[in-house]
Amino acid sequence: MKNSTPALKAKSNGTNTPRLGLDSKQREGAVCCLNVALANAYVLSVKTKKAHWDVVGPQFMMLHKLWDEQYALLEGYIDNVAERVRTLGGFPVATLQGFLAQTELKEHPLELPMATAAVVQLVDDHEAVVRSLRVAVRSCADDFNDAGTADFLTGMMEGHEKMAWILRSFLEGTAIQPSGQGFQKKSQAAASSGDGRRFA
Ligand SMILES: [Fe+2]
Repeated sequence: MKNSTPALKAKSNGTNTPRLGLDSKQREGAVCCLNVALANAYVLSVKTKKAHWDVVGPQFMMLHKLWDEQYALLEGYIDNVAERVRTLGGFPVATLQGFLAQTELKEHPLELPMATAAVVQLVDDHEAVVRSLRVAVRSCADDFNDAGTADFLTGMMEGHEKMAWILRSFLEGTAIQPSGQGFQKKSQAAASSGDGRRFA
């Protein structure tokens, strides 16, 4: 978990301090978790929009629309996370530099991956966010006594799990290479991999 800058820590300024049954250290711990989640969601939203713009190939329209929908979901998360930070008396990371400093994801500037590679990259990102949120949920519940933030981040984690599943499903069965290479009829794919599906 990356450290928050002092400006991002939960503030305690007398009568405006939220009286939520959490002390300032507990609120500050939860705010740090939320700010990392915010930075991850923000960077992933930009990466998702980039994929929406860059995609080419036979599955263009499906992926183009899907990534727009997922971008809208991420935008919703971003606003909700930032407002939860304010609810706890903290301040959200609200600069691009801050998001890049706090995020656990990597950008891939100047890269134009083929559709399949873009899907793989975004599955990896959503799964990385799920793992990070799972740790954050435990910290908020066990270390900071903040059941509300733990519950909030659990819902967000489930959303990323679902987006990862939807994207991962594109990687099963027929390949989606823009060039048409790698295309396998369902019967060929099934023959080459037993029943064609495995739980791993
Ligand atoms: Fe668009």
